[in-house]
Amino acid sequence: MGQFSAKPGASSRGAQHRIYARLRAQIEDGTLAAGVKLVSTRALATELGVSRTTVTAAYEQLAAEGFVVTSTGKAATVASVIRTSSRHAKADTPKQKDLSPALSLYGQRVANLKPYSMASPHARIDFRYGSVASRDFPALGWQRAYRAELVKRQPSLAYGHPEGEERLRIALQGYLRRARGLTCDADQILVVHGSQQGLDLCARLLLNPQDAFVFEEPGYRMARYCFEATGATALPISVDASGLGTLALPEDDRVRLAFVTPSHQFPMGAVLPVGRRLELLSWATRHRAWIIEDDYGGEFRYGQRPIDALQSMDADARVIYVGTFSKALSPQLRLGYLVLPRELVHVFREAKRLTDRHSPRWEQNVLASLIESGAYERHVRRLRRENEHRRKALLEAFEQHLAEHGQLVGMAAGLHGVLLLPALRAEDESTLQSMALERGVGVYPLSPLFSNPASTGHERPAGLILGYAGLTAPQIHEGIGILGTVIREIEELGSRAG
Ligand SMILES: Cc1ncc(COP(=O)(O)O)c(C=O)c1O
Repeated sequence: MGQFSAKPGASSRGAQHRIYARLRAQIEDGTLAAGVKLVSTRALATELGVSRTTVTAAYEQLAAEGFVVTSTGKAATVASVIRTSSRHAKADTPKQKDLSPALSLYGQRVANLKPYSMASPHARIDFRYGSVASRDFPALGWQRAYRAELVKRQPSLAYGHPEGEERLRIALQGYLRRARGLTCDADQILVVHGSQQGLDLCARLLLNPQDAFVFEEPGYRMARYCFEATGATALPISVDASGLGTLALPEDDRVRLAFVTPSHQFPMGAVLPVGRRLELLSWATRHRAWIIEDDYGGEFRYGQRPIDALQSMDADARVIYVGTFSKALSPQLRLGYLVLPRELVHVFREAKRLTDRHSPRWEQNVLASLIESGAYERHVRRLRRENEHRRKALLEAFEQHLAEHGQLVGMAAGLHGVLLLPALRAEDESTLQSMALERGVGVYPLSPLFSNPASTGHERPAGLILGYAGLTAPQIHEGIGILGTVIREIEELGSRAG
């Protein structure tokens, strides 16, 4: 309400008019809806540092003009107002309605992105990829560590550094060396609000509209959208059973970066073999291009030790490593990190400062204490066992209900698999999705993860992404059983029609 403030020495009539005018405008534009109670005259007078009489006079004027309703002893409430202001009269003319809001070129590109579908609210069994089970969150350990942080006496509650808490960065440095074979200094780590903020910073700091970027096809849409929003051109490279087809990497000097998911290609699940990793690194060196390594699933590899990160083979400092706590803890925490080549550290820190100053300090220190005590790694090991169990349930349910209809790929690592159904086409995915949802099962089509779904839609088999980290083994069995029935029904319909 700072905009009401009476300037020192301003006449009470001036203050009264400003209060009246601001409230009237807010009522007219709907900010204060009919029936809303206004702040009491006493509270508003104290807040603005004016006399109560001044505020009362403004309220009386609004009441006299029919904008508010007052009655003795009750709070003034907003009346039902017929919008009469000249602003609204203009906004309602047909000509004005056709105009889109004034947006920057960036804003226009963002407005034109396809809307991103969220979880199916009506799904009783939701194979939504990206969700994790709430019972998997180490609530007790987190609570204890959080309490310990809160009772620590800090001289003041001050802003932190944009790069994040030093304690967390040091803890992460050790963790990444042990768990992902990654070597870096704590200074190269930038703590961010989930991978997403890291990707957005990369897009804004590394791409111009005339540039191009290499992208896995199909690939992670939330990353592609960040890069496309800069105006740069996507150069999709198909993935096969071994991941990104590195032989097709373009010898094109417009290319400034490549986005890759080498430890578990998103969504198809391939692990990029060492030969292709070396080809990718030498391509980046030749073009002075950056490689963004999104290691979202690196911690979840089953049966074998997780493969070391691509960054660990990078002799030329071309790789920006992106890590997240969304899989091992919770996507709601919004905590992740970048490991940056030294030459990018300064600019990324400054951009992070401009974006949001820094990520939340308490949460960072809680996380640091869990990593320091070994509790985080114990938790990840336990979670890997839990997810191994879910993965086994999905493989068994697939064998039982779906094996005759298709293939389940990408199950060696990560928290999802992709079901490919050769008897159905990509155009059938939405029917599959809605028929499964009618029976309470949420499944998600593969097509939106192609940068140009229409170009290959007719030849491509239907595909569904099945995330399992949020479900129990019995739910997985039940959900896949229902999906099997739906697929049979669609196949029968198709054969009758054919
Ligand atoms: C490929 C990929 N990278 C990263 C993430 C994690 O994103 P964030 O850290 O922003 O939660 C996800 C989440 O589903 C993902 O699918």
